[in-house]
Amino acid sequence: MDKLIITGGNRLHGDVVISGAKNAALPILCASLLTADTLALTNVPSLKDISTTLKLLAQMGVQNQWGNPAELTLNAANVTSLEAPYELVKTMRASILVLGPLLARFGEARVSLPGGCAIGQRPVDQHIKGLTAMGADIRIEHGFVIARAKRLKGTTIRTDMVTVTGTENLLMAAALAEGRTILENAAREPEITDLAELLIKMGARIQGHGTDRIVIDGVERLHGAEHCIVADRIEAGTFLCAVGAAGGDIMLRNAAPDTMGAVLDKLHEAGVGIECGPDWIRGHMNQRPKAVGFRTYEYPAFPTDMQAQLMALNTIADGTAVIVENIFENRFMHVQELRRMGANIDIDGHTAVVKGIPELSGATVMATDLRASASLVIAGLAASGQTTIERIYHLDRGYEHMEVKLRTIGADIQRIKQDPA
Ligand code: EPU
Repeated sequence: MDKLIITGGNRLHGDVVISGAKNAALPILCASLLTADTLALTNVPSLKDISTTLKLLAQMGVQNQWGNPAELTLNAANVTSLEAPYELVKTMRASILVLGPLLARFGEARVSLPGGCAIGQRPVDQHIKGLTAMGADIRIEHGFVIARAKRLKGTTIRTDMVTVTGTENLLMAAALAEGRTILENAAREPEITDLAELLIKMGARIQGHGTDRIVIDGVERLHGAEHCIVADRIEAGTFLCAVGAAGGDIMLRNAAPDTMGAVLDKLHEAGVGIECGPDWIRGHMNQRPKAVGFRTYEYPAFPTDMQAQLMALNTIADGTAVIVENIFENRFMHVQELRRMGANIDIDGHTAVVKGIPELSGATVMATDLRASASLVIAGLAASGQTTIERIYHLDRGYEHMEVKLRTIGADIQRIKQDPA
């Protein structure tokens, strides 16, 4: 397993090109199952989760071809299997996103039920509830969700909680269903809007995406389309936390600041200078950060996927920050590791109280999930001395060439390749 070695203390200066959003690309790749025509995508990030999804789709018969960097075509004209096996689903929960498209286009799907997850239970009951309401016959057998429906029928679905991939699965299913589907309590994340915009280009009839009430009038078939994946707001936010912690002046290119309001507000409150244009963000920092408390909620509030990174910034801030995680029940795994670097953090249930200290000290730490890994990188950049981050395969699932991008802006960060044997 590869590890990262960071020598902290360098200020960050220069340009970073932000990649396409992982969490927009994953459902969009699965949307290729909805048509026999070709989808031509640009701004596709090169990530482990993307290659896992392509592997999953390929074993169903979906052809893929990379063109220039970040350009990908997909064609599902010859689907031969309607199954998502455990071996792939267990490594990536987003595999559940094939359920809606397979059922809608082929009337059948067999998708392994995702198991436990490091950050919380993450059940998929709402995906199943919604598809059942649309007339699907769904059973759980031998660890698989087995779903059948002649043709899904539009109806009104109100999920018990706001779910991102649940909304995406139901949106894709409803695009090919008979009649009108209304998704109430829908997620409003920019990644949902991006998926809806792709589906509309494919011929879907969708209104209200980006709000909590999405209305979909099903069509008989969808066709091919071209689409550019929206910028990754979490990657951009992570780099801004890095400059907030390490100091310096960076310019993020190909970013989407209009999707980042809550994060930019908090960084500004922490003392990071923020300037934005339509597709760029400049972040500069010349002082010790100020502590900023926050609570994670669904979009447009502060995202859970930025909680660990902003916590890392708070560990060296002036003051005390109270952080409440409302989305996942176990998303404080980075706290133990940050404490190994000297951070002063108390946890009580879903609340973390972070008392800022002047400086972290480098240590050997272990990445436990994707965003926890990013928080350790930020901490390592700001710490005195050397930080070794083990198990960085988590980072590779969701950040494209993170250490390369950080090196170009002056960070002292090296990947040590380790033979899996
Ligand atoms: N939930 C249920 N039942 C369901 C669905 C969700 O109880 O059927 C609960 C979850 O357990 C959780 C809450 O509802 O407590 C919200 O979960 P949601 O379904 O919104 O999460 P997700 O769709 O599984 C996506 C992102 C996550 C991100 C969350 C929240 C993708 C592929 N994943 O997950 O991204 O944290 O939304 O915004 O889009 C990441 O990128 O690091 C990551 C974990």
